[in-house]
Amino acid sequence: MSLLDVIQVNRSFGGLRAVQEVSFGVEQNMIKAIIGPNGAGKTTLFNLISGTLAPDSGTVQINGTHIQGQPPYRIALQGISRTFQNVKLFSHMTVLENVMVGRHIRSRAGFASAMLRLPHTGKEERAIREKSMELLRMLGLHDQAEQEAASLPFGKQRIVEFGRALATEPSLLLLDEPAAGLNIYETAQISELIMKIRGQGITVLVIEHDMSLVMNISDEIVVLSSGSKIAEGTPDEIQKNGEVIRVYLGEENA
Ligand SMILES: Nc1ncnc2c1ncn2[C@@H]1O[C@H](COP(=O)(O)OP(=O)(O)O)[C@@H](O)[C@H]1O
Ligand SMILES: [Mg+2]
Repeated sequence: MSLLDVIQVNRSFGGLRAVQEVSFGVEQNMIKAIIGPNGAGKTTLFNLISGTLAPDSGTVQINGTHIQGQPPYRIALQGISRTFQNVKLFSHMTVLENVMVGRHIRSRAGFASAMLRLPHTGKEERAIREKSMELLRMLGLHDQAEQEAASLPFGKQRIVEFGRALATEPSLLLLDEPAAGLNIYETAQISELIMKIRGQGITVLVIEHDMSLVMNISDEIVVLSSGSKIAEGTPDEIQKNGEVIRVYLGEENA
């Protein structure tokens, strides 16, 4: 049993088989990557793990407990948190408030009231604020805490989204293309941040197209193509895999 087990998961949209019989495990404290061409089913797989979508068949287990088909907030409470391919922040809230929204799911008053902005007790609110500031310090964003999220450069907004995801205290963090749209400097920062997050005992599953990032930080890689898993292995094994080179890496290098 791994921290996460995806077992023979299927999901179709009409006649399109977006995810087909996909199985893999993610061990505790690993950085695992999912790669593959556009449309391979990577984001759909994240949606199936995080509860945004239910699989047609197959199981998803966290520490051996079935979670497939549960709503996202319940899956979040079981320790899975994610970021999105397109950054989703509350743009008119501050950086700190965005992180606090993630934190509220762990509080007594809960996520629903956070979304409705119902008042918390003063003590609870202060504790959430303090924890969220701590996270912002870890992410190097404490100086921007009171700025409106939308006023930050795109690369920094990505990191705010990391903060919001981490605020739920996940055991497994799902990152959907965290380096997309970032320059080399920002990509290096994200890479370091992912290592730092793993260093704090959090397991990471990351979808990414930046192959130098993937090959540098991953312990293992799953390769998807047209909804199916075509390979799984260490970065070395994946770089030498003939089919992976043919359907994906060759095209990336071309
Ligand atoms: N909600 C949806 N409704 C219909 N088709 C979808 C939906 N989500 C994804 N798809 C389709 O499923 C396939 C896989 O998409 P996606 O998982 O986003 O791929 P990737 O993230 O690997 O680029 C694509 O053909 C996409 O158009
Ligand atoms: Mg995607």
